[in-house]
Amino acid sequence: MSEDNLASENYWKASEQKIPGSTRIPVDELKKFLDNKPGMVILDLGSGEGRSTQALKESFPEAKIVAFDLNHKGLEKTISDVSGRVQGTALELPFANESADGVVLCGVLTNITDKDPQKAVEARKKVIKEIARVLKPGGILTVSDFNREHNLSHYPVNYSRHELITNELGTIAVFDPMAKITFQDKGDKEVALLAGSPYLQRFAHHYSTDELTNLAESVSELKIVKHSAEIGTTPSGNPIDTIVATFIKSPKEAP
Ligand SMILES: C[S@@+](CC[C@H](N)C(=O)[O-])C[C@H]1O[C@@H](n2cnc3c(N)ncnc32)[C@H](O)[C@@H]1O
Repeated sequence: MSEDNLASENYWKASEQKIPGSTRIPVDELKKFLDNKPGMVILDLGSGEGRSTQALKESFPEAKIVAFDLNHKGLEKTISDVSGRVQGTALELPFANESADGVVLCGVLTNITDKDPQKAVEARKKVIKEIARVLKPGGILTVSDFNREHNLSHYPVNYSRHELITNELGTIAVFDPMAKITFQDKGDKEVALLAGSPYLQRFAHHYSTDELTNLAESVSELKIVKHSAEIGTTPSGNPIDTIVATFIKSPKEAP
C-alpha cells in the first residue's frame, strides 16, 4: 500500500460519525491497575457507538460505566444498560473533581486537531487537564491511539508531506476516497494547495510515545506507568501501529 492510499483512505468520517474502532480497547490495563470494586466509576470518553463501553461493562460489571461523546447518534446506539450516557466535549467535562476511578480514551485523541496547530496542542492539553481534574487520586487513564512510529506495520505515511497541508508534523490530511487524491504526482506547492480542496474531510493526529507522555506529564499530575506499541487496523482493514499508554494520577500523600 502506498502513501497515496493513506491520503485518500476512508478513515471513519467525522461528519457521519461512522466508527470503525480500529485501536485496541485497553481494558487489560485498567484491570491491572484498578481493583474491581462495586461503585467504581469509569468514564469512556469519546465512546462512539459504544464498542469500548460494551467491553468496559463486560470487564467491570460492578462499576458505573459512563459513555460520553460529542455526538448523540453514537450514544443512542450505545448499550442501554450502561450507567450513563452523556453528550459533551472532552475539553470541558461535566463531571465533578476527583469523581472517576478510571478514564478510557480509545481512538479519541487522534481527533483532537485544528487548522491552527497551536490550537490543536492547546485543545489536547485541555483534554488531559480535564481528565486529571476528574480522576480520583490514584485513578487511571488509559489511552489507545495511532502511533506515529510505524516499526511493526511499516505503514507508509509521509508525515512531512501531510504537514504541508496540516501545518503540524504527525497530523495527516484525510480526503474523500472517491476523489482518489494522490501526492505522488504533485510537487510540494501543489500538495500544500490541497489544504483548500473540497475533498479534504478532516485531519487526524498520530502520536509518538514521547509526545503522549510529554503531553500528559507537562500539564497534569498524571505519570506514565505502562506503554506498548501494537498492531491495530485502519478503517479499511490495513495493519497500522498503535500505542496503548497508561497513566496514574498521583495518590494523595498521607498527612
Ligand atoms: C474512533 S471513535 C472511538 C469510539 C470508541 N471509543 C471505540 O473505541 O470504538 C472516536 C469518538 O470520539 C468522539 N470525539 C471526538 N472528539 C471528541 C471530543 N472533543 N469530546 C468528546 N468526544 C469526542 C467522536 O465523536 C467519536 O465518536
